[in-house]
Amino acid sequence: EERLHAIRALPKTELHLHFEGAAPPDFIRGLAKEKHVDISRIFNPDGSYAYRDFVHFLSVYEAATSVLKTPEDYARLCAAVLEESAEQGVIYAETFLSPDFCGGGDVAAWREYLHAIRETAEAAEKTHGITLRGIITCIRHFGPEQAKTAARCAAETKDDWLVGFGMAGDENKGKQRDFAYSFDMAREAGLHLTSHAGEWRGPQEVREAVEDLGVARIGHGVRAIGDLAVVDMLAEREITLEVCPGSNVFLGVFPSLDKHPIDALRDRGVRVTVSTDDPPFFHTTMPDEYENLAKTFRWDEEVFTDINRTAMQAAFCDDATRDAIL
Ligand code: HPA
Ligand code: ZN
Repeated sequence: EERLHAIRALPKTELHLHFEGAAPPDFIRGLAKEKHVDISRIFNPDGSYAYRDFVHFLSVYEAATSVLKTPEDYARLCAAVLEESAEQGVIYAETFLSPDFCGGGDVAAWREYLHAIRETAEAAEKTHGITLRGIITCIRHFGPEQAKTAARCAAETKDDWLVGFGMAGDENKGKQRDFAYSFDMAREAGLHLTSHAGEWRGPQEVREAVEDLGVARIGHGVRAIGDLAVVDMLAEREITLEVCPGSNVFLGVFPSLDKHPIDALRDRGVRVTVSTDDPPFFHTTMPDEYENLAKTFRWDEEVFTDINRTAMQAAFCDDATRDAIL
């Protein structure tokens, strides 16, 4: 259908993309073979990633990431991901990068990874017209002490390509406020803040990310819908949600897209945006997300244009970069 084709082709901004989570299974299999690492257990017979549930997904994610051993490996991944994203109409993206995976928390090693990724991203910007920025990310289930290592990498790496600090990982481990020290350090280093909240836990977790960490954006945040006071707080404070509908449905956070609260949250005045999270893991792409939302909620081009404007306004890049894209 013509309408859906036009919607798939719209220029898109993606704010929530885990860097290693964007790696196609063939890419990871190829690296594993090169390095003689046996990770065949993380693949289905058809070649796709194999996992049972979210917590198992996190361990499969870490196994896939274990074959990305050098800055050059990350540069190769960056080139592959940006070429594909640009083909799919993405013009601006932010990606989560973790010093825990890139150099094991060592600041000097982290800088080498960052340098390789940034150089590749800048080359891709020239050839494909896609702009990428990085969000340095701590991993919740690695605990607050290791998060401080990530925050120190952030504070000790003055690089304007790194625009934010975030937290990913298992939301059922610990509390948002356990990571306040790290978020404070990142804020003082001039970074914008986001945290995964309200994907698995309820509205209170979303409130705590805002009140205890002072984030401007929330990764997911969709389970705020269970408490309208939290929904209204998000609207009033102009917090932007990085919503990943396909990920939520694939992982069973909601049984189907028509039961997903993205449309209801938007109706109530919350700033919602659309991302893929870990696209090959959840069998999604940005054009697929747009098409499915257009079909399910009868969203037209104007809605998507508005959502992309919201996303660029909430982007963590500097204003000159934002204005060049808007
Ligand atoms: N959610 C939380 N943590 C993650 C994810 C995700 O989708 N991907 C990698 N770490
Ligand atoms: Zn995520």
